[in-house]
Amino acid sequence: MSVNTVIVTGGASGVGRALVGRLLDAGKTVITCDIDETGLKSLAAEHEGRPLETHVADVASHEDCDAFMDQVLAAHPDVNGLVNNAGLYLGQPVWEYDDATIERVIAVNIKGPVWLSRRFADHLLPAKRRGAIVNLASVAGEVGSSDALYGTVKAGVIGLTKSNAMNFAPYIRVNVVSPGLIVNTAIADRIPDYRYAEYKRQEQLDGDILPEYVADVCTYLLGDGSRTLTGALLRADNGSYPR
Ligand SMILES: NC(=O)c1ccc[n+]([C@@H]2O[C@H](COP(=O)([O-])OP(=O)(O)OC[C@H]3O[C@@H](n4cnc5c(N)ncnc54)[C@H](O)[C@@H]3O)[C@@H](O)[C@H]2O)c1
Repeated sequence: MSVNTVIVTGGASGVGRALVGRLLDAGKTVITCDIDETGLKSLAAEHEGRPLETHVADVASHEDCDAFMDQVLAAHPDVNGLVNNAGLYLGQPVWEYDDATIERVIAVNIKGPVWLSRRFADHLLPAKRRGAIVNLASVAGEVGSSDALYGTVKAGVIGLTKSNAMNFAPYIRVNVVSPGLIVNTAIADRIPDYRYAEYKRQEQLDGDILPEYVADVCTYLLGDGSRTLTGALLRADNGSYPR
């Protein structure tokens, strides 16, 4: 894998937590941030003695993102990977959203990745250093969602990926993973029952999509094996909603 020091947002649970483990197993240094302090503590305990740094930071806050990146860039100037994994899904129709909640969903899923990607690129590009960014979208961003706001922001993540791939070329590759229903995650627990059943019915492959399997696709996109890919969308969806 070309990257050796990687930032992963939302590492306390789900895909982020699985990815932290995969990257540490591969000998990488990992820095993660999350709003879940308890989850971060248990993650640190699980990987005690390994090159893992945890920070409490809210990617929806511009101040938190800047303070987090200030610390990361000072302590790890060789950082060359960024995974914008933290996401917020509320599983509600658009008429149930108030303005503050709309702002929050946009900030977590879109503004955070924009701010972090910008700081990351500002650090690498002037020095012509190479790196890789992986963003987490969703099947919801491709085929729509019963939660219109989630469908909107995840479509935005795909647009951000393709556009940053252009902006950051030729030094930073930017790609996106589009998972289907990932079991054993807080987000899956919030999917309405009828939608959960629809997602499962759509899958062509048997077996559940585990966070570790999505982490594997992220790991591939961070590594040399994907050296020809930028602006690409890879799915981790058991073939659901063929498109
Ligand atoms: N679970 C699914 O079925 C599914 C499907 C498609 C896409 N996704 C996407 O995959 C990514 C990972 O999802 P997951 O299933 O692992 O979710 P999860 O809820 O299990 O984990 C998300 C992590 O992000 C953290 N987080 C949330 N808001 C944050 C914020 N503002 N700042 C910092 N950390 C924050 C949470 O505390 C949590 O630890 C997300 O972007 C999600 O939208 C998930």
